[in-house]
Amino acid sequence: MDILVAGGHGQVALRLLKLLADQGHTARGLIRTPSQAADLQAVGAVPVIGDLENDASLSPYVKGADAVVFAAGAGAGSGPERKRTVDLGGAVKLADAAVDQGVRRYVMVSSIGAHDPSSGAGSMGPYLAAKGEADAYVTSRADLDWTIVRPGHLTDEPGTGLVTVSREMGGRGPVPRDDVAAVLAACLTTPATIGQTFELFAGTTPIDEALRF
Ligand SMILES: NC(=O)c1ccc[n+]([C@@H]2O[C@H](COP(=O)([O-])OP(=O)(O)OC[C@H]3O[C@@H](n4cnc5c(N)ncnc54)[C@H](OP(=O)(O)O)[C@@H]3O)[C@@H](O)[C@H]2O)c1
Repeated sequence: MDILVAGGHGQVALRLLKLLADQGHTARGLIRTPSQAADLQAVGAVPVIGDLENDASLSPYVKGADAVVFAAGAGAGSGPERKRTVDLGGAVKLADAAVDQGVRRYVMVSSIGAHDPSSGAGSMGPYLAAKGEADAYVTSRADLDWTIVRPGHLTDEPGTGLVTVSREMGGRGPVPRDDVAAVLAACLTTPATIGQTFELFAGTTPIDEALRF
């Protein structure tokens, strides 16, 4: 498969691109900073230069893909405005470009709490609102085969391949970025995940088994 990962230099995205490249896929990462290209090439990925906020359309980058993954984020240090332009606006632009290019498969890295933004204190409120609206936009598109993955608190602990997946919203807990990347990669080749929204935590169930909906 040819897979375009938006936010290609992100910590989850780089792990995902490496897994996909190792599996023999064409793993393309959308980055806005050309100097990050070498880091993508080092994991076997193909850098694609483009900006989620400043490019009017992402169609030229999505062209030729079999699937897209949204793994970008404005980051903890950003204000509410960039939550709108990246976490919401970037995800919406990616969905529009996918539809425009006839790419049905869309895997979204969302967040726990996106179902209830009012639960987020301080800057988490606008972040979760942006995530929730982005999820709603993607899931409203009948022309997309979507999966919404809502991880708990991301850690840099080594992955275990063991997770907890829950379709009941409102859970809490950590999850290694390694395992988030492994779940995203598995979603791309597991049709049963199409049309599913689930929370993801460190756990005790092998990933393949956890994704048997
Ligand atoms: N942290 C948590 O505990 C947590 C929990 C649940 C879900 N999440 C979500 O998980 C996802 C991945 O997290 P992560 O830790 O891997 O994130 P990360 O390392 O902060 O990566 C985010 C990436 O988005 C890119 N980006 C920002 N603005 C962009 C733009 N205009 N155009 C293109 N790329 C842009 C950044 O690139 P630059 O280097 O150019 O800025 C960066 O590489 C995010 O969506 C995050 O919201 C996080």
